[in-house]
Amino acid sequence: MTAAFPTPPELAGHPYFQYRNNVLYAEDVPLDHLAHGLGTPLYVYSRAALKGAWETYRSAIGQRPVLVCYGMKANSNLAVLKEFARLGAGFDIVSGGELKRALAVGAEPSKIVFSGVGKQAWEMRAALAAQVKCFNVESEAELHRLSDVAEELGVRAPVSLRVNPDVDAQTHPYISTGLKENKFGIAIESALDVYRVAQSLPGLDIVGVDCHIGSQLTDISPYFDALEKLLDLIDALDQEGIRIAHLDLGGGLGIRYTDETPPSPQALLDRVFERLNARGQGHLHLVLEPGRSLVGNAGVLLTTVQYLKHAEARNFAIVDAAMNDLLRPALYEAFHGVQPLRPRAGDQVEYDIVGPVCESADWLARQRKLAIQQGDVLAVESAGAYSMAMASNYNTRARAAEVMVDGANYHVVRQRETLDDLLRGESTLP
Ligand code: LLP
Repeated sequence: MTAAFPTPPELAGHPYFQYRNNVLYAEDVPLDHLAHGLGTPLYVYSRAALKGAWETYRSAIGQRPVLVCYGMKANSNLAVLKEFARLGAGFDIVSGGELKRALAVGAEPSKIVFSGVGKQAWEMRAALAAQVKCFNVESEAELHRLSDVAEELGVRAPVSLRVNPDVDAQTHPYISTGLKENKFGIAIESALDVYRVAQSLPGLDIVGVDCHIGSQLTDISPYFDALEKLLDLIDALDQEGIRIAHLDLGGGLGIRYTDETPPSPQALLDRVFERLNARGQGHLHLVLEPGRSLVGNAGVLLTTVQYLKHAEARNFAIVDAAMNDLLRPALYEAFHGVQPLRPRAGDQVEYDIVGPVCESADWLARQRKLAIQQGDVLAVESAGAYSMAMASNYNTRARAAEVMVDGANYHVVRQRETLDDLLRGESTLP
């Protein structure tokens, strides 16, 4: 008699990641082939999943004037960026480093917006030299610096103010950004005054209004609370002769990690344009800065079980990936699904999946029922966004390799770091 295999679950990255004959595949590549050939921890992305996510935006936009600037902080691997550049995306950058990456893949500067609360003068210079579309400015002090830098270069900087509309995005406090107590943006009450300052400065051209209220939004209504306030502001600016060409609503659309049903780009855009038209502001161009919803479910993290440890209170599966590879559980208590690459028949046991780092916060998943043995490889789901991008070298652990699957082929798009890489640049005292 053979024991029945459990019915394979549907992964959050379905249909790009799915079981065939009890083996987990990324597109047409069996993942255990990659794990054995390239080692673990290993990030695996699906090119078709990136294209699929992009298509949800493209088809929702239709002929409407919307520029999608990929929030590249979510995953800035050059292969991912190049794919989006090919598809016609712009980029939302937050540092001179991200600008360098965007330019390295041939991004069109006229589709780059520069966000972030702490832009330094060298970063402004580089972005002005590249002729980016817009600086999303977050404080009055930043306006003055930007105007000075632009004047030095003999140009004018295109600016939006990032307005903080004081709405509750109803998401994790660490990824909520549109409340008064957050460090981001300019309070909606002061926005008009700060726009007047911007207008008076010689190095600036006002082009837009910007906001970003938070991330992993699973309810659409906070966008519309923000939108009405922004449209009121745009009306008020208009009355003072300050004409706004584009409205940037930031990123934030959530993804399914477990059982969420996040709103679609279509639902968001239909209602935004309905409001713009109803308020006679149909001439506005729209900018969106999605990160997670373009890449989050386009990746998994593969990790090998090193030991099973049956302690008194808990069972632990100690794996070779850790909080330095995937910080989200430690930092936000985030949920990521975990599935074996080759499900086994037999009894499931409840495990905490933990890494080797010397911190109690070093866990990837808790209380998951799994039938696993030492040496099995697991896939951590929804690891395309804010995963490798937030990896560190804590405990002198080399960062994982990254591979992009494309149909039945795959390409290593980032080599695994070596221990020599980690020591490079350091020295002892003479
Ligand atoms: N625009 C701005 C100005 C942002 O600050 C962000 C994200 C985005 C766009 C993209 O947002 P998305 O579409 O990805 O929600 N590390 C956290 C998420 C931090 C988000 C930071 N800002 C996490 O792992 O959940």
